[in-house]
Amino acid sequence: MNTNLSSSAPSQLETDCLVAVVLDRGEKDKPSPSIECADAAVREAARDVIASGEVIGKSFETTLLHRPAGLKAKRLLLLGGGKAKNFSTAELRKLAGAAVRTLKGKNLRTFAFALPENGIAAAEGVRAIVEGAFVGNFEPGYYKSDRKEKDQKIDDVTIVVPGDPKPLENAMQAGRIVAESQNFARDLINEPSNRMTPTILAERAKKMAADVGLKCEVHDGDKIRQLKMGAFWGVAQGSDEPPALIVLRYEPKDPAKDVHLGLVGKGVTFDTGGISIKPADGMEKMKYDMAGAATMIAAMRAIALLKPKVKVTAIICATENMPSGKAQKPGDVQIAMSGKSIEIINTDAEGRLILADGLSYARQIGCTHIVDAATLTGAVVVALGYVNAGIFASDDQLYERFAKANQQAGEKMWRLPLDDDYKENLKSNIADMVNAGSRFGGAIFAAMFLKEFAEDTPWIHLDIAGTAWMEDSKPWIAKGPSGIALRSLVEFVKGWSA
Ligand code: BES
Ligand code: MN
Ligand code: ZN
Repeated sequence: MNTNLSSSAPSQLETDCLVAVVLDRGEKDKPSPSIECADAAVREAARDVIASGEVIGKSFETTLLHRPAGLKAKRLLLLGGGKAKNFSTAELRKLAGAAVRTLKGKNLRTFAFALPENGIAAAEGVRAIVEGAFVGNFEPGYYKSDRKEKDQKIDDVTIVVPGDPKPLENAMQAGRIVAESQNFARDLINEPSNRMTPTILAERAKKMAADVGLKCEVHDGDKIRQLKMGAFWGVAQGSDEPPALIVLRYEPKDPAKDVHLGLVGKGVTFDTGGISIKPADGMEKMKYDMAGAATMIAAMRAIALLKPKVKVTAIICATENMPSGKAQKPGDVQIAMSGKSIEIINTDAEGRLILADGLSYARQIGCTHIVDAATLTGAVVVALGYVNAGIFASDDQLYERFAKANQQAGEKMWRLPLDDDYKENLKSNIADMVNAGSRFGGAIFAAMFLKEFAEDTPWIHLDIAGTAWMEDSKPWIAKGPSGIALRSLVEFVKGWSA
Protein backbone atom coordinates (compact mmCIF):
# COMPACT_ATOMS: atom_id res chain seq x y z
CA MET A 1 0.00 0.00 0.00
CA ASN A 2 1.28 3.45 -0.96
CA THR A 3 0.92 6.27 1.53
CA ASN A 4 1.06 9.94 0.60
CA LEU A 5 0.62 13.29 2.28
CA SER A 6 -1.27 16.16 0.72
CA SER A 7 -1.74 19.73 1.88
CA SER A 8 -4.55 20.36 -0.58
CA ALA A 9 -7.80 21.67 0.88
CA PRO A 10 -9.88 18.51 1.51
CA SER A 11 -12.70 19.83 -0.69
CA GLN A 12 -10.30 20.39 -3.60
CA LEU A 13 -8.73 16.93 -3.53
CA GLU A 14 -9.60 14.57 -6.38
CA THR A 15 -10.04 11.14 -4.85
CA ASP A 16 -12.39 8.16 -5.03
CA CYS A 17 -13.39 8.89 -1.46
CA LEU A 18 -12.65 11.52 1.14
CA VAL A 19 -12.94 10.28 4.71
CA ALA A 20 -13.88 12.79 7.42
CA VAL A 21 -14.17 12.00 11.12
CA VAL A 22 -17.40 12.89 12.93
CA LEU A 23 -17.20 13.33 16.68
CA ASP A 24 -20.04 13.65 19.12
CA ARG A 25 -19.57 16.89 21.04
CA GLY A 26 -22.90 16.60 22.82
CA GLU A 27 -23.82 15.89 26.43
CA LYS A 28 -24.87 12.47 27.75
CA ASP A 29 -27.79 11.37 25.57
CA LYS A 30 -28.09 14.43 23.35
CA PRO A 31 -25.72 13.82 20.47
CA SER A 32 -24.19 16.80 18.73
CA PRO A 33 -22.22 15.53 15.74
CA SER A 34 -19.38 17.66 14.44
CA ILE A 35 -17.34 17.13 11.29
CA GLU A 36 -13.67 17.34 12.29
CA CYS A 37 -12.51 19.23 9.25
CA ALA A 38 -11.52 22.87 9.03
CA ASP A 39 -12.64 23.03 5.39
CA ALA A 40 -16.12 24.64 5.43
CA ALA A 41 -17.00 23.05 2.08
CA VAL A 42 -16.71 19.57 3.61
CA ARG A 43 -18.94 20.52 6.52
CA GLU A 44 -21.41 22.04 4.08
CA ALA A 45 -21.48 18.85 1.98
CA ALA A 46 -22.46 16.89 5.08
CA ARG A 47 -24.91 19.45 6.41
CA ASP A 48 -28.17 17.84 5.26
CA VAL A 49 -27.33 14.35 6.43
CA ILE A 50 -26.22 15.72 9.78
CA ALA A 51 -29.40 17.80 10.07
CA SER A 52 -31.47 14.69 9.30
CA GLY A 53 -30.27 13.10 12.55
CA GLU A 54 -29.04 10.01 10.70
CA VAL A 55 -25.47 10.75 11.67
CA ILE A 56 -24.64 11.07 15.34
CA GLY A 57 -20.89 10.39 15.41
CA LYS A 58 -21.15 7.08 17.25
CA SER A 59 -17.95 4.99 17.16
CA PHE A 60 -17.47 3.33 13.76
CA GLU A 61 -20.72 4.67 12.35
CA THR A 62 -20.26 4.90 8.58
CA THR A 63 -22.23 7.10 6.17
CA LEU A 64 -21.25 7.16 2.53
CA LEU A 65 -22.37 10.06 0.35
CA HIS A 66 -21.93 9.94 -3.41
CA ARG A 67 -21.06 13.01 -5.48
CA PRO A 68 -20.96 15.29 -2.44
CA ALA A 69 -21.88 18.83 -3.46
CA GLY A 70 -18.95 21.22 -3.63
CA LEU A 71 -16.24 18.55 -3.28
CA LYS A 72 -13.90 17.22 -5.93
CA ALA A 73 -13.98 13.80 -4.24
CA LYS A 74 -16.31 11.22 -5.81
CA ARG A 75 -17.54 10.15 -2.40
CA LEU A 76 -17.52 11.40 1.18
CA LEU A 77 -17.33 8.85 3.98
CA LEU A 78 -18.39 10.20 7.36
CA LEU A 79 -16.76 8.04 9.99
CA GLY A 80 -17.99 8.22 13.56
CA GLY A 81 -15.30 8.56 16.22
CA GLY A 82 -17.44 8.54 19.36
CA LYS A 83 -17.48 11.11 22.15
CA ALA A 84 -15.11 13.99 21.45
CA LYS A 85 -13.85 14.00 25.04
CA ASN A 86 -12.71 10.37 24.74
CA PHE A 87 -11.08 10.79 21.35
CA SER A 88 -7.37 10.00 21.22
CA THR A 89 -4.64 8.72 18.93
CA ALA A 90 -5.69 5.15 19.71
CA GLU A 91 -9.22 5.88 18.41
CA LEU A 92 -7.83 7.60 15.33
CA ARG A 93 -5.68 4.55 14.54
CA LYS A 94 -8.74 2.32 14.70
CA LEU A 95 -10.77 4.71 12.55
CA ALA A 96 -8.14 4.54 9.80
CA GLY A 97 -8.39 0.74 9.95
CA ALA A 98 -12.18 0.97 9.80
CA ALA A 99 -11.99 3.30 6.77
CA VAL A 100 -9.80 0.77 4.95
CA ARG A 101 -12.05 -2.14 5.84
CA THR A 102 -15.23 -0.28 4.86
CA LEU A 103 -13.91 0.98 1.54
CA LYS A 104 -12.05 -2.12 0.36
CA GLY A 105 -15.30 -4.02 0.97
CA LYS A 106 -16.88 -1.70 -1.59
CA ASN A 107 -14.10 -2.50 -4.05
CA LEU A 108 -12.40 0.88 -3.79
CA ARG A 109 -8.62 0.91 -4.17
CA THR A 110 -7.74 4.43 -3.05
CA PHE A 111 -9.01 7.07 -0.65
CA ALA A 112 -7.96 10.18 1.25
CA PHE A 113 -8.25 10.62 5.01
CA ALA A 114 -8.62 14.15 6.36
CA LEU A 115 -6.48 14.46 9.50
CA PRO A 116 -8.85 15.62 12.24
CA GLU A 117 -7.63 18.87 13.75
CA ASN A 118 -8.57 18.50 17.36
CA GLY A 119 -5.60 18.49 19.65
CA ILE A 120 -3.77 15.42 18.40
CA ALA A 121 -0.33 16.54 17.21
CA ALA A 122 -0.13 16.27 13.41
CA ALA A 123 2.89 13.93 13.39
CA GLU A 124 1.27 11.62 15.92
CA GLY A 125 -1.99 11.66 13.97
CA VAL A 126 -0.32 10.88 10.64
CA ARG A 127 1.56 7.99 12.19
CA ALA A 128 -1.58 6.59 13.77
CA ILE A 129 -3.53 6.81 10.51
CA VAL A 130 -0.79 5.00 8.58
CA GLU A 131 -0.53 2.29 11.25
CA GLY A 132 -4.27 1.79 11.41
CA ALA A 133 -4.63 1.68 7.62
CA PHE A 134 -2.03 -1.07 7.23
CA VAL A 135 -3.52 -3.09 10.06
CA GLY A 136 -6.97 -2.79 8.46
CA ASN A 137 -5.67 -3.88 5.07
CA PHE A 138 -4.51 -7.32 6.31
CA GLU A 139 -6.71 -10.32 5.45
CA PRO A 140 -6.04 -13.84 6.72
CA GLY A 141 -7.69 -15.87 3.91
CA TYR A 142 -4.33 -16.96 2.46
CA TYR A 143 -5.38 -20.30 1.08
CA LYS A 144 -8.82 -19.46 -0.28
CA SER A 145 -8.95 -20.33 -3.96
CA ASP A 146 -11.63 -17.69 -4.53
CA ARG A 147 -9.19 -14.84 -4.27
CA LYS A 148 -11.78 -12.09 -4.00
CA GLU A 149 -11.18 -11.37 -0.34
CA LYS A 150 -7.43 -11.56 -0.81
CA ASP A 151 -7.38 -9.21 -3.78
CA GLN A 152 -9.76 -6.70 -2.29
CA LYS A 153 -7.19 -4.36 -0.84
CA ILE A 154 -6.52 -0.68 -0.65
CA ASP A 155 -3.51 0.27 -2.79
CA ASP A 156 -3.18 3.91 -1.97
CA VAL A 157 -3.98 6.19 0.97
CA THR A 158 -3.51 9.96 1.03
CA ILE A 159 -3.55 11.77 4.34
CA VAL A 160 -4.75 15.33 3.99
CA VAL A 161 -2.91 17.61 6.40
CA PRO A 162 -3.07 21.33 7.07
CA GLY A 163 0.09 23.19 6.07
CA ASP A 164 3.45 21.88 4.93
CA PRO A 165 3.53 18.06 4.71
CA LYS A 166 7.36 17.88 4.62
CA PRO A 167 7.90 17.76 8.42
CA LEU A 168 5.36 14.92 8.63
CA GLU A 169 7.16 12.60 6.23
CA ASN A 170 9.24 10.96 8.95
CA ALA A 171 6.13 10.18 10.95
CA MET A 172 4.55 8.63 7.88
CA GLN A 173 7.62 6.45 7.24
CA ALA A 174 7.86 5.41 10.90
CA GLY A 175 4.20 4.42 10.89
CA ARG A 176 4.77 2.39 7.76
CA ILE A 177 7.74 0.51 9.17
CA VAL A 178 5.94 -0.36 12.39
CA ALA A 179 2.70 -1.37 10.68
CA GLU A 180 4.38 -3.44 7.98
CA SER A 181 6.30 -5.19 10.73
CA GLN A 182 3.08 -5.83 12.64
CA ASN A 183 1.61 -7.37 9.48
CA PHE A 184 4.79 -9.40 9.00
CA ALA A 185 4.21 -10.88 12.47
CA ARG A 186 0.57 -11.57 11.57
CA ASP A 187 1.70 -13.24 8.36
CA LEU A 188 3.97 -15.64 10.28
CA ILE A 189 1.29 -16.35 12.91
CA ASN A 190 -1.41 -16.96 10.32
CA GLU A 191 0.45 -19.82 8.63
CA PRO A 192 -0.69 -23.30 9.70
CA SER A 193 1.83 -25.53 11.44
CA ASN A 194 2.51 -27.65 8.35
CA ARG A 195 3.69 -24.47 6.64
CA MET A 196 5.35 -22.88 9.63
CA THR A 197 7.66 -25.43 11.25
CA PRO A 198 10.57 -24.28 13.44
CA THR A 199 12.82 -24.71 10.37
CA ILE A 200 10.57 -22.55 8.20
CA LEU A 201 10.29 -19.91 10.94
CA ALA A 202 14.10 -19.81 11.10
CA GLU A 203 14.30 -19.43 7.31
CA ARG A 204 11.80 -16.57 7.36
CA ALA A 205 13.82 -14.88 10.15
CA LYS A 206 17.04 -15.34 8.17
CA LYS A 207 15.57 -13.90 5.02
CA MET A 208 14.15 -10.91 6.88
CA ALA A 209 17.54 -10.38 8.61
CA ALA A 210 19.34 -10.40 5.25
CA ASP A 211 16.80 -7.91 3.85
CA VAL A 212 17.19 -5.37 6.65
CA GLY A 213 20.83 -5.95 7.65
CA LEU A 214 20.57 -7.88 10.92
CA LYS A 215 22.83 -10.72 12.02
CA CYS A 216 21.01 -14.01 12.34
CA GLU A 217 22.22 -17.34 13.69
CA VAL A 218 20.14 -20.50 13.81
CA HIS A 219 21.18 -23.24 16.23
CA ASP A 220 19.95 -26.81 15.81
CA GLY A 221 19.04 -29.57 18.28
CA ASP A 222 22.68 -30.63 18.79
CA LYS A 223 23.63 -27.10 19.76
CA ILE A 224 20.58 -26.84 22.06
CA ARG A 225 21.80 -29.97 23.88
CA GLN A 226 25.38 -28.70 23.90
CA LEU A 227 24.19 -25.49 25.56
CA LYS A 228 22.59 -27.76 28.18
CA MET A 229 19.14 -26.38 27.45
CA GLY A 230 17.49 -29.40 29.04
CA ALA A 231 14.11 -27.72 29.51
CA PHE A 232 13.92 -26.59 25.87
CA TRP A 233 15.19 -29.95 24.61
CA GLY A 234 12.75 -31.85 26.82
CA VAL A 235 9.90 -30.29 24.82
CA ALA A 236 11.67 -30.59 21.45
CA GLN A 237 12.63 -34.28 21.90
CA GLY A 238 9.07 -35.44 21.29
CA SER A 239 8.81 -34.06 17.77
CA ASP A 240 10.11 -35.29 14.43
CA GLU A 241 10.42 -31.65 13.37
CA PRO A 242 13.84 -30.32 14.40
CA PRO A 243 13.76 -27.38 16.85
CA ALA A 244 15.55 -24.09 16.22
CA LEU A 245 17.15 -21.55 18.52
CA ILE A 246 17.07 -18.36 16.44
CA VAL A 247 19.24 -15.43 17.48
CA LEU A 248 18.86 -12.04 15.80
CA ARG A 249 21.33 -9.29 16.63
CA TYR A 250 20.98 -5.55 16.18
CA GLU A 251 24.15 -3.62 17.01
CA PRO A 252 24.14 0.09 16.10
CA LYS A 253 27.34 2.16 15.88
CA ASP A 254 27.09 4.25 19.06
CA PRO A 255 24.59 2.50 21.30
CA ALA A 256 23.43 3.62 24.72
CA LYS A 257 26.11 2.61 27.24
CA ASP A 258 25.65 -0.47 29.41
CA VAL A 259 22.28 -1.40 27.93
CA HIS A 260 21.66 -4.60 26.04
CA LEU A 261 18.00 -5.45 25.55
CA GLY A 262 16.97 -9.07 25.16
CA LEU A 263 13.70 -10.05 23.46
CA VAL A 264 12.73 -13.66 24.09
CA GLY A 265 9.89 -15.28 22.13
CA LYS A 266 7.90 -18.49 22.56
CA GLY A 267 7.88 -20.22 19.20
CA VAL A 268 5.78 -23.36 19.64
CA THR A 269 4.73 -23.89 16.03
CA PHE A 270 2.12 -26.38 17.20
CA ASP A 271 1.06 -27.23 20.74
CA THR A 272 -0.76 -30.57 20.99
CA GLY A 273 -0.07 -30.57 24.72
CA GLY A 274 2.34 -33.49 24.33
CA ILE A 275 1.60 -36.60 26.41
CA SER A 276 -0.73 -34.42 28.53
CA ILE A 277 -2.63 -34.06 25.27
CA LYS A 278 -5.17 -31.30 24.66
CA PRO A 279 -8.81 -32.03 23.74
CA ALA A 280 -9.51 -32.07 19.98
CA ASP A 281 -12.02 -29.24 20.26
CA GLY A 282 -10.21 -26.05 19.33
CA MET A 283 -6.79 -27.68 19.03
CA GLU A 284 -6.41 -26.24 15.51
CA LYS A 285 -5.85 -22.86 17.11
CA MET A 286 -2.60 -24.03 18.64
CA LYS A 287 -0.85 -23.09 15.39
CA TYR A 288 -0.68 -19.59 16.84
CA ASP A 289 1.40 -20.73 19.81
CA MET A 290 4.40 -19.14 18.07
CA ALA A 291 2.90 -15.63 18.20
CA GLY A 292 5.45 -14.45 20.79
CA ALA A 293 8.28 -15.58 18.52
CA ALA A 294 6.74 -13.96 15.45
CA THR A 295 6.28 -10.71 17.37
CA MET A 296 9.92 -10.61 18.47
CA ILE A 297 11.21 -11.45 14.97
CA ALA A 298 8.99 -8.76 13.46
CA ALA A 299 9.97 -6.25 16.17
CA MET A 300 13.61 -6.80 15.14
CA ARG A 301 12.64 -5.92 11.59
CA ALA A 302 11.15 -2.61 12.73
CA ILE A 303 14.16 -1.95 14.96
CA ALA A 304 16.62 -2.60 12.12
CA LEU A 305 14.76 -0.09 9.94
CA LEU A 306 14.13 2.58 12.59
CA LYS A 307 17.72 2.35 13.87
CA PRO A 308 17.43 3.31 17.56
CA LYS A 309 20.82 3.62 19.26
CA VAL A 310 20.60 0.66 21.59
CA LYS A 311 21.85 -2.90 21.35
CA VAL A 312 19.06 -5.47 21.00
CA THR A 313 19.17 -9.24 20.66
CA ALA A 314 16.17 -11.46 20.00
CA ILE A 315 16.22 -15.06 21.20
CA ILE A 316 13.58 -17.30 19.69
CA CYS A 317 12.94 -20.80 21.01
CA ALA A 318 11.11 -22.68 18.27
CA THR A 319 9.77 -26.22 18.53
CA GLU A 320 6.65 -28.32 18.24
CA ASN A 321 5.07 -29.85 21.35
CA MET A 322 4.13 -33.38 20.32
CA PRO A 323 3.26 -36.72 21.91
CA SER A 324 5.44 -39.56 20.62
CA GLY A 325 7.54 -42.51 21.76
CA LYS A 326 10.36 -40.04 22.37
CA ALA A 327 8.25 -37.41 24.12
CA GLN A 328 8.86 -36.37 27.73
CA LYS A 329 6.32 -37.70 30.21
CA PRO A 330 4.68 -36.37 33.36
CA GLY A 331 7.02 -37.04 36.26
CA ASP A 332 10.17 -36.67 34.16
CA VAL A 333 12.85 -34.40 35.55
CA GLN A 334 14.74 -32.02 33.25
CA ILE A 335 17.80 -29.95 34.11
CA ALA A 336 17.53 -26.44 32.69
CA MET A 337 20.46 -24.44 31.29
CA SER A 338 20.71 -22.52 34.58
CA GLY A 339 21.29 -25.81 36.44
CA LYS A 340 17.85 -25.82 38.09
CA SER A 341 15.93 -29.09 38.02
CA ILE A 342 12.29 -29.18 36.93
CA GLU A 343 9.72 -31.90 37.58
CA ILE A 344 7.39 -32.06 34.58
CA ILE A 345 3.87 -32.31 36.01
CA ASN A 346 2.11 -31.41 32.80
CA THR A 347 3.75 -31.60 29.37
CA ASP A 348 1.23 -29.02 28.14
CA ALA A 349 2.99 -26.40 30.26
CA GLU A 350 5.75 -26.39 27.64
CA GLY A 351 6.06 -22.67 26.89
CA ARG A 352 7.59 -21.86 30.27
CA LEU A 353 10.10 -24.68 29.77
CA ILE A 354 11.47 -23.42 26.48
CA LEU A 355 11.39 -19.81 27.72
CA ALA A 356 13.27 -20.77 30.88
CA ASP A 357 16.27 -21.67 28.75
CA GLY A 358 15.69 -18.69 26.44
CA LEU A 359 15.89 -16.40 29.47
CA SER A 360 19.08 -18.09 30.74
CA TYR A 361 20.61 -17.73 27.29
CA ALA A 362 19.72 -14.02 27.24
CA ARG A 363 21.46 -13.61 30.59
CA GLN A 364 24.48 -15.57 29.44
CA ILE A 365 25.02 -13.36 26.39
CA GLY A 366 24.86 -10.29 28.63
CA CYS A 367 21.37 -8.88 28.24
CA THR A 368 20.83 -6.22 30.92
CA HIS A 369 17.03 -6.06 30.52
CA ILE A 370 14.77 -8.77 29.14
CA VAL A 371 11.25 -8.79 27.71
CA ASP A 372 9.55 -12.02 26.74
CA ALA A 373 6.33 -12.50 24.81
CA ALA A 374 4.39 -15.75 24.84
CA THR A 375 0.98 -17.28 24.33
CA LEU A 376 1.65 -18.84 27.68
CA THR A 377 -1.55 -19.67 29.55
CA GLY A 378 -5.24 -20.27 29.13
CA ALA A 379 -5.45 -18.76 32.62
CA VAL A 380 -4.59 -15.28 31.38
CA VAL A 381 -7.67 -15.53 29.16
CA VAL A 382 -9.74 -16.42 32.23
CA ALA A 383 -8.26 -13.41 34.05
CA LEU A 384 -8.33 -10.73 31.34
CA GLY A 385 -10.47 -12.13 28.52
CA TYR A 386 -9.64 -11.35 24.93
CA VAL A 387 -9.16 -7.64 25.60
CA ASN A 388 -6.01 -7.06 27.64
CA ALA A 389 -2.70 -8.89 27.44
CA GLY A 390 -1.12 -9.69 30.82
CA ILE A 391 2.06 -7.86 31.83
CA PHE A 392 4.31 -9.11 34.60
CA ALA A 393 7.35 -7.15 35.70
CA SER A 394 10.10 -7.95 38.19
CA ASP A 395 11.13 -4.29 38.32
CA ASP A 396 8.82 -1.30 38.81
CA GLN A 397 11.04 1.13 36.90
CA LEU A 398 11.17 -1.14 33.91
CA TYR A 399 7.41 -1.56 34.15
CA GLU A 400 6.93 2.21 34.08
CA ARG A 401 9.00 2.47 30.92
CA PHE A 402 7.08 -0.31 29.28
CA ALA A 403 3.71 1.05 30.34
CA LYS A 404 4.57 4.41 28.77
CA ALA A 405 5.49 2.77 25.48
CA ASN A 406 2.38 0.64 25.67
CA GLN A 407 0.21 3.71 26.18
CA GLN A 408 1.73 5.41 23.13
CA ALA A 409 1.31 2.29 21.02
CA GLY A 410 -2.40 2.08 21.88
CA GLU A 411 -2.34 -1.60 22.84
CA LYS A 412 -4.30 -2.92 25.81
CA MET A 413 -2.30 -4.58 28.56
CA TRP A 414 -2.86 -4.99 32.28
CA ARG A 415 -0.34 -5.65 35.01
CA LEU A 416 -0.70 -8.78 37.13
CA PRO A 417 1.20 -9.48 40.36
CA LEU A 418 4.38 -11.42 40.99
CA ASP A 419 4.69 -11.53 44.80
CA ASP A 420 6.83 -14.04 46.60
CA ASP A 421 3.70 -15.37 48.34
CA TYR A 422 2.97 -17.27 45.13
CA LYS A 423 6.37 -18.99 45.22
CA GLU A 424 5.08 -21.71 47.53
CA ASN A 425 3.27 -23.27 44.55
CA LEU A 426 6.51 -24.00 42.71
CA LYS A 427 7.66 -26.63 45.24
CA SER A 428 8.42 -30.16 44.03
CA ASN A 429 9.12 -33.33 46.05
CA ILE A 430 11.88 -34.47 43.79
CA ALA A 431 13.30 -31.39 42.04
CA ASP A 432 13.82 -27.65 42.48
CA MET A 433 10.39 -26.88 41.09
CA VAL A 434 7.38 -28.22 39.24
CA ASN A 435 6.33 -26.85 35.84
CA ALA A 436 2.61 -26.68 36.66
CA GLY A 437 0.45 -26.19 39.72
CA SER A 438 -3.19 -25.62 40.53
CA ARG A 439 -5.70 -24.20 38.04
CA PHE A 440 -6.08 -21.07 40.15
CA GLY A 441 -3.81 -18.14 39.36
CA GLY A 442 -2.33 -20.12 36.48
CA ALA A 443 -0.98 -17.11 34.60
CA ILE A 444 0.78 -15.91 37.75
CA PHE A 445 2.20 -19.37 38.43
CA ALA A 446 3.69 -19.46 34.92
CA ALA A 447 5.20 -15.99 35.40
CA MET A 448 6.63 -16.99 38.82
CA PHE A 449 8.19 -20.01 37.15
CA LEU A 450 9.84 -17.80 34.50
CA LYS A 451 11.07 -15.40 37.16
CA GLU A 452 13.25 -18.20 38.54
CA PHE A 453 15.17 -18.05 35.26
CA ALA A 454 15.15 -14.28 34.71
CA GLU A 455 16.78 -14.20 38.18
CA ASP A 456 17.98 -10.69 39.06
CA THR A 457 17.90 -9.31 35.51
CA PRO A 458 15.12 -6.70 35.25
CA TRP A 459 12.49 -8.49 33.21
CA ILE A 460 9.02 -8.13 31.73
CA HIS A 461 6.80 -11.00 30.69
CA LEU A 462 3.89 -10.51 28.28
CA ASP A 463 1.25 -13.25 28.26
CA ILE A 464 -0.55 -12.75 24.95
CA ALA A 465 -2.55 -16.02 24.86
CA GLY A 466 -5.89 -14.17 24.83
CA THR A 467 -4.94 -11.29 22.54
CA ALA A 468 -2.67 -12.72 19.82
CA TRP A 469 -5.68 -14.07 17.94
CA MET A 470 -8.84 -12.04 17.28
CA GLU A 471 -11.82 -14.30 17.92
CA ASP A 472 -14.08 -12.02 15.87
CA SER A 473 -13.63 -9.35 13.26
CA LYS A 474 -13.77 -5.78 14.49
CA PRO A 475 -14.46 -2.70 12.37
CA TRP A 476 -10.71 -1.94 12.31
CA ILE A 477 -9.18 -5.42 12.19
CA ALA A 478 -9.94 -8.82 10.68
CA LYS A 479 -10.52 -11.97 12.71
CA GLY A 480 -7.25 -13.89 13.04
CA PRO A 481 -3.72 -12.95 14.09
CA SER A 482 -3.58 -9.52 15.73
CA GLY A 483 0.13 -8.72 15.95
CA ILE A 484 -0.40 -7.57 19.56
CA ALA A 485 2.66 -6.29 21.47
CA LEU A 486 4.73 -5.42 18.41
CA ARG A 487 4.02 -1.70 18.55
CA SER A 488 4.61 -1.51 22.30
CA LEU A 489 7.88 -3.41 22.00
CA VAL A 490 9.21 -1.19 19.23
CA GLU A 491 8.21 1.96 21.13
CA PHE A 492 9.83 0.54 24.28
CA VAL A 493 13.11 -0.19 22.48
CA LYS A 494 13.14 3.30 20.90
CA GLY A 495 12.86 4.75 24.38
CA TRP A 496 16.37 3.46 25.23
CA SER A 497 18.03 5.10 22.22
CA ALA A 498 21.20 7.02 23.21
N1 BES B 1 -0.20 -22.62 24.48
C1 BES B 1 -0.90 -22.88 25.67
C2 BES B 1 -1.64 -21.65 26.20
C3 BES B 1 -2.73 -21.07 25.34
C4 BES B 1 -4.05 -21.29 25.68
C5 BES B 1 -2.46 -20.27 24.26
C6 BES B 1 -5.06 -20.74 24.93
C7 BES B 1 -3.46 -19.72 23.51
C8 BES B 1 -4.77 -19.95 23.85
C9 BES B 1 0.06 -23.35 26.76
O1 BES B 1 1.16 -24.04 26.32
C10 BES B 1 -0.71 -24.27 27.64
O2 BES B 1 -1.11 -25.29 27.16
N2 BES B 1 -0.90 -23.89 28.89
C11 BES B 1 -1.62 -24.70 29.80
C12 BES B 1 -0.84 -24.76 31.09
C13 BES B 1 -1.39 -25.73 32.10
C14 BES B 1 -1.23 -27.14 31.59
C15 BES B 1 -0.67 -25.55 33.40
C16 BES B 1 -2.98 -24.05 30.03
O3 BES B 1 -3.05 -22.83 30.10
O4 BES B 1 -3.96 -24.76 30.06
MN1 MN C 1 0.75 -26.11 26.10
ZN1 ZN D 1 1.75 -23.65 24.38
